[in-house]
Amino acid sequence: SIIRDKIDPIDGASDAQLSAIDGIAKEFDLTVEKLSEIIKHFCNEMDKGLSKNGMTVPMIPSFVTGIPTGNEVGTFLALDLGGTNLRICEISFEGKGAIKIKQQKHKVTENLKAGPSHQLFDFIADCVDKFLSEYTEFVTVQPGVHDRKLKLGFTFSFPVEQTAINKGTLIKWTKGFTCPDAENKDVVFMLQEAMKRKNVPVIVTALVNDTVGTLLSHSYKDPNTLIGIIYGTGTNGAYFEDIPKIKKINFSDDSQKKMIVNIEWGAFDSEKKVLPLTMFDNKLDRESNNPHYQIFEKMISGMYLGEITRNILLHLIDRMLLFDGYSSKDLNRHYSFETEYLSTIEADETQTLDDTKKILEELLNIPSTTLIDRQIVKRACQMVGLRAARLSSASLAAILIHCDKVECGSSVGIDGSLFEFYPHFSARIKKALQELFGANADKIKISLARDGSGVGAALAAMLAAQK
Ligand code: GLC
Repeated sequence: SIIRDKIDPIDGASDAQLSAIDGIAKEFDLTVEKLSEIIKHFCNEMDKGLSKNGMTVPMIPSFVTGIPTGNEVGTFLALDLGGTNLRICEISFEGKGAIKIKQQKHKVTENLKAGPSHQLFDFIADCVDKFLSEYTEFVTVQPGVHDRKLKLGFTFSFPVEQTAINKGTLIKWTKGFTCPDAENKDVVFMLQEAMKRKNVPVIVTALVNDTVGTLLSHSYKDPNTLIGIIYGTGTNGAYFEDIPKIKKINFSDDSQKKMIVNIEWGAFDSEKKVLPLTMFDNKLDRESNNPHYQIFEKMISGMYLGEITRNILLHLIDRMLLFDGYSSKDLNRHYSFETEYLSTIEADETQTLDDTKKILEELLNIPSTTLIDRQIVKRACQMVGLRAARLSSASLAAILIHCDKVECGSSVGIDGSLFEFYPHFSARIKKALQELFGANADKIKISLARDGSGVGAALAAMLAAQK
């Protein structure tokens, strides 16, 4: 089938409808040959990023070199900023791999995402203050150490040019954050200053990307882990690299062999050389608040899948091929078609697509829909969701090839709402990996690493404290 998935026929659709849909489906289809071409380019871009700063795929050294043994003990704070929520955790490592977590979540408002950065960081400091007074006993970090300041690992899930485990400047906001004065500034410094302004007795000792945190926390449980991935609001991956291969840095500690590299793969192919972009992707990019950036991310991650689908639906409406040519105020609004709707629609197995009907008629206020309309909408969701999963398999495959792990296999820890909740997402990735690697695909162990980045940040703070 054209979209490589089980698809239901659209009974009774007109020739014009069928031919329009088939045309779009072809554009969204990703053959294994096309995937291989993307993978080849991805491998080249990884090499470029490792040898020089400022390349399209940034390949950011994390300065995390140690791997936790599972025997560490201590209590650390972790902060996680980068998607919909700000998460604050107190994480106690109790030895033998046992971990205790207390946590609190706060929604980050659109105002905070776009306002002056001190406002965002003051908000974070206030939340930590609240957390400390409501949730924790005030403990010393390590028994016998008199510093009563809690050590904090900060997961900051944006591209950061890192120069040390606790230092790094924001390169560029992604995922809808735009605070105008934060770019090129040291993230740890901004956070530490806010803690000072608010008298919060916390010292920020480690800065990590969410992918790095996910990788760390997953390798705490499974030492064979090579890769940490996020498929959520945004998408990105990190992996363990041989230090000599990171040619752009001079790392003096000879005792260390591996360092985690944050790929920042959302930026892959922003030159649009190999990615099969459609007019629906181009429209989304042009209308986004970071045009020309994060092109790969915009084809894959949760922030964007709904909007791509909305663009398809509007196109069909304008051609009088859907909803009898009627849209609604709601459907006309940017980002109104949420990725969660895609999830629900793809999972809708009711005979008359009742869940789909509810979304279209009750949430998006389309005056009326026929079963054919709803089948067309479902088909559009399938194309977008399937393409996202197949593209996801490409970056994963590229890392395995780069690290020469195709034959022997390895473990991959993945977090993010798309991976956790989107129907068929992981099955589609696995199927694409089978097309690419045959039986070797079975040696790739993909598992959910839920909330890994908080634990990972605390682990990074602990590893930093040991040095
Ligand atoms: C975006 C960020 C990246 C993060 C990813 C997943 O791509 O730039 O740093 O890891 O989203 O949250």
